[in-house]
Amino acid sequence: MRTQVAIVGAGPAGLTLALGLQQAGIGCVVLEARSREHVERRVRAGLLEQNTVDVLHALGVGARLAREGLDHTGVHLRFQERLFHVDMLRLTGRKITIYGQQEVVKDEIAALLERGVPLHFDVADVAVHDLDGERTLITYGPDQELECDFIAGCDGFHGVCRPSIPDGVLTEHELVYPFSWLGILAEAPPSTDELVYAWHERGFALHSMRSPSVSRLYLQVPNDERLDDWPDERIWDELRVRIGKVNEGPIFDKGITPMRSFVCEPMQYGRLFLAGDAAHIVPPTGAKGLNLAVNDVRLLGAALHDHYESGSNAALDGYTSAALRRVWRAQDFSNYMTQLLHDLGGGDFGRRLQLARLDYLTRSEAAATSLAENYVGLPAEPDF
Ligand code: FAD
Ligand code: PHB
Repeated sequence: MRTQVAIVGAGPAGLTLALGLQQAGIGCVVLEARSREHVERRVRAGLLEQNTVDVLHALGVGARLAREGLDHTGVHLRFQERLFHVDMLRLTGRKITIYGQQEVVKDEIAALLERGVPLHFDVADVAVHDLDGERTLITYGPDQELECDFIAGCDGFHGVCRPSIPDGVLTEHELVYPFSWLGILAEAPPSTDELVYAWHERGFALHSMRSPSVSRLYLQVPNDERLDDWPDERIWDELRVRIGKVNEGPIFDKGITPMRSFVCEPMQYGRLFLAGDAAHIVPPTGAKGLNLAVNDVRLLGAALHDHYESGSNAALDGYTSAALRRVWRAQDFSNYMTQLLHDLGGGDFGRRLQLARLDYLTRSEAAATSLAENYVGLPAEPDF
């Protein structure tokens, strides 16, 4: 088999890239290790920047998002029984949309299959070869071979593409936090109109949502915590302590996610280009992971288009620096939100600094605007 661009991974990065390439008339094949059911059911992100919503509309997969997505114009910060509303729309003119990542993935898979893009699930043993050759090769399954001009490594943090780059090429920047998030989905109407980011002596909590009848809630927990230690009653008790009033209902999904900041540099080697979580991870406090993945492939898709249209490699060569500019901005913002709101284990002095920063946000329009413009996402310039 042969194609122009082989895409490894059918998460938001791989699927969005496939839609962009198909729209530009560039041939591609997507190889995904897991089943379609698994990929469509995997519960993760929920908050889309306006930039991401615009990309999905431009790719023709925004119809259900427009109908079912929940528009939000701000967020609440809660600390010491105070609730401060950051009015993003007033401060920045932009808003955000709540729409589950698995819904984005479902819409994208349906569109790709309808448009005839080859999308292979349950693909075992993907290996990439000849990354610095004229043509490159992917092998998979018992004896399959796929020859291609380029490979897009969209296979997440634990994928095979990044580790296939020869030793010494990549610099990896990493920060691992001493806590995780326990996340639940519950059949319960959200008890708030906007997301609530809650600072508390006992640790951070977040009240998000998926629909008028489904709440998405998170608790900061220590890294070694096990789900068995968190029966439903304990989760609700702790959420009530940290967030205040929370509507309860049957919990139908529970998971623990460690917090990590990670960037590899460069995001390319020879004919392999990394995008999304394969190249970088942010702690979810800033809600940037999926949005960064979509921005990477927006840039990569445009660079590949440029290559096939004009024969020039300038945009492909500049991919890393174009993508990393936004990645590092998001790293800084995600780290800021994480440090502002979590129990960092540093005792009373650190807590007083956090409270001083939160108080400052309530009193300074400049401080609130800085948070807001990062949260809603800086406008997507061609090179930013
Ligand atoms: P992934 O979604 O990880 O997709 C990679 C794909 O590659 C997977 O389907 C995987 O099965 C496949 N794969 C892996 N290895 C192989 C292989 N060897 N061969 C073939 N296929 C392979 N981001 C936000 O923007 N907003 C949020 O509100 C937000 N909240 C989050 C909350 C939580 C609890 C978590 C865990 C994450 C959150 N994120 C958020 C981050 C976001 O979910 C990720 O950044 C996003 O999934 C990245 O997309 P991706 O396509 O790069 O990677
Ligand atoms: C979510 O709804 O899953 C969500 C929202 C905001 C975040 C992280 C996760 O910062």
